[in-house]
Amino acid sequence: MATWGERGLEFEVLTPWRRCLNGLANPWRNYLLPKALLQWVVRRSKSPLIQETLRKPGGWQSMAIIYANPAPNGLLDGWAVQHSPLAMATRNRRKLITARLEELLRAIPDHEVLTAVGIGAGPGVHLRDALRSCGRRPDQFRVYLIDRDMSACQEIERNAAELSWHDSWRFIHGDARSIRDLLPCVQPHLVKMVGLIEYLSDGELKELLAALRSVMRPGARLLTHGLVDRYGNSPFLERTFGLRHHRRTGPELAGLLTESGFKDIRCWETPMRIFPVCLATRDEVVPQKDRCQAELLQSPGLVDVSRTPRVARGPQHGR
Ligand SMILES: C[S@@+](CC[C@H](N)C(=O)[O-])C[C@H]1O[C@@H](n2cnc3c(N)ncnc32)[C@H](O)[C@@H]1O
Repeated sequence: MATWGERGLEFEVLTPWRRCLNGLANPWRNYLLPKALLQWVVRRSKSPLIQETLRKPGGWQSMAIIYANPAPNGLLDGWAVQHSPLAMATRNRRKLITARLEELLRAIPDHEVLTAVGIGAGPGVHLRDALRSCGRRPDQFRVYLIDRDMSACQEIERNAAELSWHDSWRFIHGDARSIRDLLPCVQPHLVKMVGLIEYLSDGELKELLAALRSVMRPGARLLTHGLVDRYGNSPFLERTFGLRHHRRTGPELAGLLTESGFKDIRCWETPMRIFPVCLATRDEVVPQKDRCQAELLQSPGLVDVSRTPRVARGPQHGR
């Protein structure tokens, strides 16, 4: 591991030897070997990560295995979990995003009830870890974790019970593009979107950004990332697992964010340079007055979702 950047964050880097192996394997797995053969090999693999990726490409459970980085179950599993550039960069991304979130959380005064939303959040590990390390009390935050996969709910509820965050940490089941309906009275200070936009076309991403912008308070921050196929693994992932990633460099993502009403964009890289992490600020244009506006103006930390029809579970806030 290499120590890199400020605050002594430790990131994983591909050794020159593994870089060389990756370069040699690419033409074979990307183009030369028949797709049917690759699919046969991975289907027979005992790797939990490979099986999970086949079961649900782009699901949060694959991320959870990559983060846990368990002892390998065979050669293929060792490659997929420990040494594949995407898995290494995913763990690096987690560290960088968590550190950035922690800074953002610390910048919000303790007397203000911080409202944050995780989009395509799975079990919400980034926000959970950042909140824990900055030591914010549960009465000082409200976090909503939106995911269209109901299976994230159980993990979120387990965390809420373990950390005594019952009233502050909740799962919202649904499509994030409908955030206005899912959370009609919530105006977040902070939105985090990790592991999602690489599955969205530019058009779909702009639709999502417009929906987010419509609920975020002026000056609120959005933390997200692009994806660059720096190690040339995309064709293999697409033909073998059906994982089709939309690639965006930091400047390309910054351009889309600017077009969508965000400003003051800053981007950071980790040493693998696969996921440029971008922080953007919602512009100051005041959202259109709607039925919740009067309440929101009276109570900056308001999180009254009692009229939200699609909230899956958990306690009601702000009553
Ligand atoms: C790769 S996982 C990332 C999970 C988590 N953010 C992480 O980084 O560990 C992507 C998640 O986004 C969710 N998702 C995809 N499209 C979505 C949408 N339109 N609305 C809500 N969730 C969505 C999926 O169900 C999945 O759990």
